[in-house]
Amino acid sequence: MRILIITGILLIYTQVAMGLLFQDPAVCRFTQRNQCYVAVGQQLHLQMPQEDVFDLKLTSLILRYRKTQSSPPTPRLPRWKFVNDNKTMILTSAERSDSGTYTLNIYDVDGKDKSSSTLQVNIEAPVSSVKVSYSCLPTGVMKVNCSADGDNLRFNWNSDFNALPQLKNGSSTVILEQDHQGKVTCHVENHVSRDHNTTELHQCPDSMIVFVSVWLFEVIILVSVLVGTLHIYPRIYRK
Ligand SMILES: *[C@@H]1O[C@H](CO)[C@@H](O)[C@H](O)[C@H]1NC(C)=O
Ligand SMILES: *[C@@H]1O[C@H](CO)[C@@H](O)[C@H](O)[C@H]1NC(C)=O
Ligand SMILES: *[C@@H]1O[C@H](CO)[C@@H](O)[C@H](O)[C@H]1NC(C)=O
Ligand SMILES: *[C@@H]1O[C@H](CO)[C@@H](O)[C@H](O)[C@H]1NC(C)=O
Repeated sequence: MRILIITGILLIYTQVAMGLLFQDPAVCRFTQRNQCYVAVGQQLHLQMPQEDVFDLKLTSLILRYRKTQSSPPTPRLPRWKFVNDNKTMILTSAERSDSGTYTLNIYDVDGKDKSSSTLQVNIEAPVSSVKVSYSCLPTGVMKVNCSADGDNLRFNWNSDFNALPQLKNGSSTVILEQDHQGKVTCHVENHVSRDHNTTELHQCPDSMIVFVSVWLFEVIILVSVLVGTLHIYPRIYRK
């Protein structure tokens, strides 16, 4: 018993550490909530009702269940398995293409419609490779950019320098005034997982405008010197 509890806690702990928001397997049911989110590669258990006659459809018929049949039905889609004991449809490893609206039609013994319900199954790639980078723009602002892999990503920001109206949540790019230094963290999440990464901001090199001006000034001097020599030398030769 104690071992079981410890294993359970360890399992939950591992999944939190990995940033997965769902238990594996994901269990989806045709009840109240009509949305269900599953990570790519995760095992999906689709709970069927304790009824005598029902059909499960995606775009076409997947499972036709009749209690009176001598042997339990086999799903008409590959990769799915039907466990008759507990009326569970099992998908070992979910793929994006398994997303869709699943329809469950229940009939009474005479074959008349009894009830119908739908479930929207969404398979999302989990968040991975969160990267934060920043660049200094010549206009005196800092552009902080966050990128990540995964489906339906939402971005949130926070920093160790406080009170920043520019650090808007929801966008993958934020603009900061130039004089900010410190750590900025980008949190990325979708329905199945979350992850984050941090970068340290260092002050931008003092005014790019000054740098560009000095450079332009030097070019002008060089050009005038060149033009000057071209004009002067021929005269010297002629003399
Ligand atoms: C149904 O049975 C399968 C196979 O034994 C098992 O993996 C699954 O967890 C069961 N589901 C429920 C809801 O009991
Ligand atoms: C955070 O970013 C660094 C540098 O880009 C990268 O090496 C690291 O894998 C990232 N960490 C996560 C958790 O994505
Ligand atoms: C943010 O970084 C990613 C990856 O480095 C890049 O593809 C993207 O263009 C950048 N976005 C902006 C607005 O700089
Ligand atoms: C942005 O998201 C972070 C992380 O979820 C949260 O701590 C912070 O309060 C949010 N800021 C705003 C302005 O909503």
